[in-house]
Amino acid sequence: MREKLKEIFLKSNHQFISGEELSQQMQISRTAIWKQIEELKKEGYQFEAVRKKGYRLLNEPDDISSEIIQRECHTKIFGSNVVYFKSIDSTQTKAHELARQGAKHGTIVIANEQTNGKGRLGRSWFSNEGKGIWMSILLRPSFSYNEAPQITLFASIILTNALRSLYGIDIRIKWPNDLYFEKKKIAGILTEMHGEQDQIHYLIIGIGINTHKTKYPLELKQKAGSLEEFINQNPKRIEILCKFLEQFEKNYELFHQKGFAPFFDEYNQLLLKKGTPIVVTQSTSFIYGQIYGVDENGYLIVKKENGEMIKVVSGDITI
Ligand code: BTN
Repeated sequence: MREKLKEIFLKSNHQFISGEELSQQMQISRTAIWKQIEELKKEGYQFEAVRKKGYRLLNEPDDISSEIIQRECHTKIFGSNVVYFKSIDSTQTKAHELARQGAKHGTIVIANEQTNGKGRLGRSWFSNEGKGIWMSILLRPSFSYNEAPQITLFASIILTNALRSLYGIDIRIKWPNDLYFEKKKIAGILTEMHGEQDQIHYLIIGIGINTHKTKYPLELKQKAGSLEEFINQNPKRIEILCKFLEQFEKNYELFHQKGFAPFFDEYNQLLLKKGTPIVVTQSTSFIYGQIYGVDENGYLIVKKENGEMIKVVSGDITI
């Protein structure tokens, strides 16, 4: 019954609906309607109630459950199969498990909380309940193992553009795939694959976006930030998610056929710290220089202090 009432309000375009109309549509008394509305409030729905006008839905809860994703996001592939968890150790681990069991291309695993989120380079990823988007996308592409790392760069462009267009803030990409606003990391991407040299069996793109303010552990306080700190509105996770998935789907075919080349200009425009001094940390050494940009393969071109140009395939930039 509550689902039907939700549906009526969600279709109402935030207009008032009288108690009488609701009771007719639902075939229950006005007192029963009132009780159901009280229950919806407990789920996070907000209403305005005005005498003689009825009820008006002000806000839905910021839910990212599978039903909501499938209802709100206009995608055919990425979102056609959504596996949602209120809490899970890691969506990444779960996505691997589902991939091994044969889950289809485009499957999304998403959670409201991760208790053991995984970051790049064996780090952990802080994923507090309701404070971000923690999701893993399963892909079954037909490109080779060597081309696969570039999909992370592709995903970072799509995510950066989605956030820039929604909130008008100057988010940039710290090579290879961290999203920054000023000095704070807002989002990170972790791509993992399974397969052989000439054939990928599957690939999982794990995306963590810090949307809402939260108390970060001491070691992250300096570096981590959330969107809510920088925009003058309450970020809506479903809005971000749909924007990202829709744009990802729209551009994926081009990436799949042509690789990173059609996107590298755009990536360079979004690159953080171009032309300013940086240090690239590799496992046991450091490179001092300036970022020149990335090439068509997504490798970082650094102009060293002695003027020499070098190509960096992997490493961590300190800003
Ligand atoms: C990074 O270190 O910057 C990458 C972070 C990736 C975090 C996401 S959150 C969803 C998915 N599940 C995980 O356990 N990790 C990724």
